[in-house]
Amino acid sequence: MMMKKKQDGEQTRGGVVLVPFPSQGRINPMLQLGTILYSQGFSITVVHPQFNCPDPSTHPHFTFESIDDGIPEEDISSWNIWNIIWGLNDNCEKPLKEWLDRRSSKMPDHGHQWRITCVIYDDLMYFASAAASHLKLPSIVLRTNSFATFLARAAIPLIKPQKYMTGDPVPNLQSLRFKDLPVAKVGLTEDFLRLIPLMIDTRTTSAVIWNTIECLEKPFLTELQKQCQVPSFPIGPMHKFAPDSTSNLANADTGCITWLDKQTDNSVLYVSYGSQVCIDEEEATEMAFALANSEQPFLWVLRPGLVIGSKWNEFLPEGFTQSVGERGYIAKWAPQKQVLAHPAVGGFWSHCGWNSTLESASEGVPMICRPISGDQRVNARCASHVWAIGLQLDNELLNRKEMESAVRKLMVDEQGKEMRQMAKLFKEKIQVSITQGGSSYNSLNDLVNFISS
Ligand code: UDX
Repeated sequence: MMMKKKQDGEQTRGGVVLVPFPSQGRINPMLQLGTILYSQGFSITVVHPQFNCPDPSTHPHFTFESIDDGIPEEDISSWNIWNIIWGLNDNCEKPLKEWLDRRSSKMPDHGHQWRITCVIYDDLMYFASAAASHLKLPSIVLRTNSFATFLARAAIPLIKPQKYMTGDPVPNLQSLRFKDLPVAKVGLTEDFLRLIPLMIDTRTTSAVIWNTIECLEKPFLTELQKQCQVPSFPIGPMHKFAPDSTSNLANADTGCITWLDKQTDNSVLYVSYGSQVCIDEEEATEMAFALANSEQPFLWVLRPGLVIGSKWNEFLPEGFTQSVGERGYIAKWAPQKQVLAHPAVGGFWSHCGWNSTLESASEGVPMICRPISGDQRVNARCASHVWAIGLQLDNELLNRKEMESAVRKLMVDEQGKEMRQMAKLFKEKIQVSITQGGSSYNSLNDLVNFISS
C-alpha cells in the first residue's frame, strides 16, 4: 500500500464494522477495504452471515462475528439469489442491531479499546444501514461496482420493459444500449424492480465508497454527480492498495503459475468466468473447440459447477486433452490476480464481473468479453466500446468459429495488439491513480478523514 501505513497495534482511530454480502466477488473488496482502513489505524470487525464465511485466518488482525441469517440450506446450495437477498435483509437487521447495541454500550475501559465510528455495508446488505441508523451510528455504503453500473441500474425503472433488449442508446449514458442494462437474467421483474430502489437509496447513508477509478469512469462522472447526493469516494482498484487481502472460497491451483513460467510473453489466453455464473453445455463445448482449434496457449478455469449438467469437465469433447496437450492448462480455481500480472498472459476471455474487469485493466490485459448476466453487460460494453480494451461476443448463441475468430483477433491480429496497447495505457493511468497525488490515493485520504471526523 502506498499511503503512509500505521504500525500494527496503532489502532487509534476507532472501530469500523464491515458487513459484506456473502459471495466471492463481494467479500474480497470488503476485506480489501478493511485491510486499507486497518493500515490507517482503524480496528476492524467483520459481521457476516453464517454461510460462506470469510476465512478469519487470512486476516488475523480483524475480529469476525457471525450473525444468525436464517437462510435455508437449499437456497444456499442452489444459490437462489432472490431468496438469499430478501432473507438476509429480513432476518439480519435484528441480530445486527442487537450486536451493535451490545457493542456500543461497552465503554473503552470494559475490555474494548475502541468505539464504533461507522458501519460500512455492501449495497445488497442495506438492512445494515437501518440497524446503524437506529443506534444513531453513521453508515457508509460500499458499492463493489462501477459508476456506469449504478447509473444503468438507476435507469432501469424508467424504461418500458419492451425496450430492455433493444440496441437503442440509453439517454445520458454514453455508449450503453438498452440491452446492456444490468437486468438480471434470473427472475427479472418484480424482484429486480423491487431491489433497485433499495440498493441505490442513500437516505440513511452518510457517504458512498466505490471500488472504481476516475480515469475509467470519466464519461459517467457528470451524470453520477447529478444522481449521488452524498459524498463519494472512488478508491479503486482496492486490490492494488491491499494486494495480500483475499479470502478464497476455493483453493487456488498454483501449478498454473509454474506452467505460465514456461510460456512466452503475451502468448497465453486466460479464460475464466468468475465464481458465480453458469453456462450451458453447448456453449462450453463450443468454447473447448474454439480453444483447441485456435492453436493458442490457454489457461482455462473450469470451476466445478460452471457448466450446467457437468460436475466438472465431463462435457469436454472426446480427445480434447490429448489434442491440446501441453498447450492448454485446466485449473479448477486459479490465483487470478497473480495470473493476470504474469508476463505470459496476453489476453483474458472473461464474463466481465467487475472484479475481473478491474483486475484485467490494472494489469494491462485486453479482454474477450462474454457477459452472462447483470452488471457484466455494462462492464463488457465499457471495456469494448468506451475504453477500447475488449472485444465483445454479443450474439446470444455463439458457435466455435466465431469464438475461434475472436481468440485469433485478440491474441494474433493487429486489432489485439492495439487493444493491448490501450490496456497498457490504462494500467499506467491506474498506477498513477493509486500513487501519491493520484485520484484514488486522494480519495482514500479524504475517506479516512471523513470517517475520523
Ligand atoms: C459477482 C457477479 O457475477 C459480477 O457480475 C459482479 O460484478 C461481482 O459479483 P463474480 O462472478 O464472482 O462476481 O466475478 P468477479 O467480479 O469477476 O469476481 C471474481 C473474483 O474471483 C475475482 O476477484 C477473481 O480474481 C477471483 N477469482 C476468479 C480467482 O481468484 N480465481 C479464479 O479462478 C476465478
